[in-house]
Amino acid sequence: MSIHRPDLTSPFAGFGAGSEDTALIASLVGEVFHGKALPSLDLPVTPPVTLAGQPYVLSTLPSSPASSPEAAVPSSGSRDISLNGGFPTTSSSAPPVHPTVVGAAPEKTDVEATETPSGTHGSGRSDSYEYGEPRFYLENLTAQSPDVPVEKDFSTLRRTPSFPSEIQVESEPDFYFLKGIQGVGFQNPAASGSLSRFDVEGVRRDFPALHQRVNGHPLIYLDNAATTHKPQAILDATSQFYGRDNSNIHRAAHVLAERSTKLFESGREKVRQFLGAADAKEIVFLRGTTEAINLVANSYGRRHVGPGDEILLTQLEHHANIVPWQLLAQQTGAVIRVVPINDRGELILEEFARLLTPRTKIVSVTHVSNALGTINPVEQIIPLAHAVGAVVLVDGAQSTPHIPINVSALDADFFVFSAHKIFGPTGIGALYGKKHLLDEMPPWQGGGHMIQDVTFEKTIYRPAPEKFEAGTPDIAGVVGLGAAIDYLFRVGIPALAAYEHSLLEYATQALSTVPGLKPIGTAAHKASVLSFILPGISNDAIAKHLDKQGIAVRAGHHCALPAQRHFGQDTTVRPSLAFYNTFDEVDALVAALHQLPRH
Ligand code: ALA
Repeated sequence: MSIHRPDLTSPFAGFGAGSEDTALIASLVGEVFHGKALPSLDLPVTPPVTLAGQPYVLSTLPSSPASSPEAAVPSSGSRDISLNGGFPTTSSSAPPVHPTVVGAAPEKTDVEATETPSGTHGSGRSDSYEYGEPRFYLENLTAQSPDVPVEKDFSTLRRTPSFPSEIQVESEPDFYFLKGIQGVGFQNPAASGSLSRFDVEGVRRDFPALHQRVNGHPLIYLDNAATTHKPQAILDATSQFYGRDNSNIHRAAHVLAERSTKLFESGREKVRQFLGAADAKEIVFLRGTTEAINLVANSYGRRHVGPGDEILLTQLEHHANIVPWQLLAQQTGAVIRVVPINDRGELILEEFARLLTPRTKIVSVTHVSNALGTINPVEQIIPLAHAVGAVVLVDGAQSTPHIPINVSALDADFFVFSAHKIFGPTGIGALYGKKHLLDEMPPWQGGGHMIQDVTFEKTIYRPAPEKFEAGTPDIAGVVGLGAAIDYLFRVGIPALAAYEHSLLEYATQALSTVPGLKPIGTAAHKASVLSFILPGISNDAIAKHLDKQGIAVRAGHHCALPAQRHFGQDTTVRPSLAFYNTFDEVDALVAALHQLPRH
């Protein structure tokens, strides 16, 4: 194949070649594998972190035997870390890998009996777990309770070194998909220059599932728009939670409850940073994108949408961003309007502007199409919608794995995403909503935890986000989601976006060499998705042929039938990329398509 591959030595040069990098990896290996006292908890991400006025101090690691690869680990004294948005400042060469608190950590602060809520439901006291603010527990936490023995040696778990935080900042990349997003309040300054460090082979080592054979071939996983694989850090975080910290949250006065509560709420803070939201109270944990859209439709929608009002969607939407609004329209007498797309799969913005009226109450639009890969210009859509008084929900299920997000810069009213698309667990996701909107929205589901007081006559709800989080949430899911965000920040979202974009461009050209292949979705601005058909061969047959060679793609309607039908198709074959995919994998896909049996 004669298609040009980008020069991976620059700007995507990996680490590992130079002596500095070798020392760094050795240092990470030393810290992660050989530190005896592994941590109980991740540090909270809000800077700066202190305990009882003292800074956290990383433990001093013992020197390793000279014969081992980590001999280069310096046995220097303890060093302070100053957290900056969850990342060590550049003076530290190690990433924030589960520091252990020693020395400066205070004695564990026992929860005083006078301040301790009953831990039982229904006491009615304003400071009880069910009734009070969770902040009480967070303030009294000792990040690593030194008196809690860690029986299990988690160091025996496999851990691959993660990405260095020391980043050579080179010139900013000039990629359209980063424009207008990176600026105001982007939460990961350390990663914004990490383009020079992107190393796909290093990344791949973090993902156990990628290293298996399927049907006698090494797995080539190209179904990332459906769900993504999980790095070891997420598996470890979830396993540690269940293996050690597991407890219900905001309810009980014991150490495990403290830990779980802290982990859960620090997950909320991580999501706040990931989305660039102003306040963690604007983050609601839900099952995922689908449940988040249903919540907005049922809560905000039922309060604000009436007969004859209009809900504006686009032809690109996933069924999860169509059906909840149809249900709302049926219940309220509202009308659904749909912005059409052109033959490249791009929204026709003039039509969008024309369809906006004073009756438009809600605009709900996907950021990236899961079927076509189109990146919608939400930075233009949102102000246009606001000009007629509509609120805008952005479905970020397919953008969050690929594009840096800043809901504050976008001025989105609602933004939703799922953890499993960003390398985290299934069954958990989040809704961002502007505080004033969440505050005035009624609850959708009722149950424990979301109430301030209950009598048979009347229930008083807690403020957002708790009033939308009835029942025991997916605590382990939030822990895993937080770990996924940590991981993405370590890799660097702008860096992975730039790498993926190169891969997408290469794959687009490579696929065009397959005789008869018709791409479905050729927008100028795309992410990840390479849908196609091969007239005369069924999409199922293509997917099965690829699967026999260990290549996983999705063939089907992708839960986006209106978008597909614009192209006269109910189904397509859809390879979809993540940052752990490689140019070799693209070559293997294209070679397999060249070998398709044709009759
Ligand atoms: N929405 C997921 C997909 O696009 C399941 O495949």
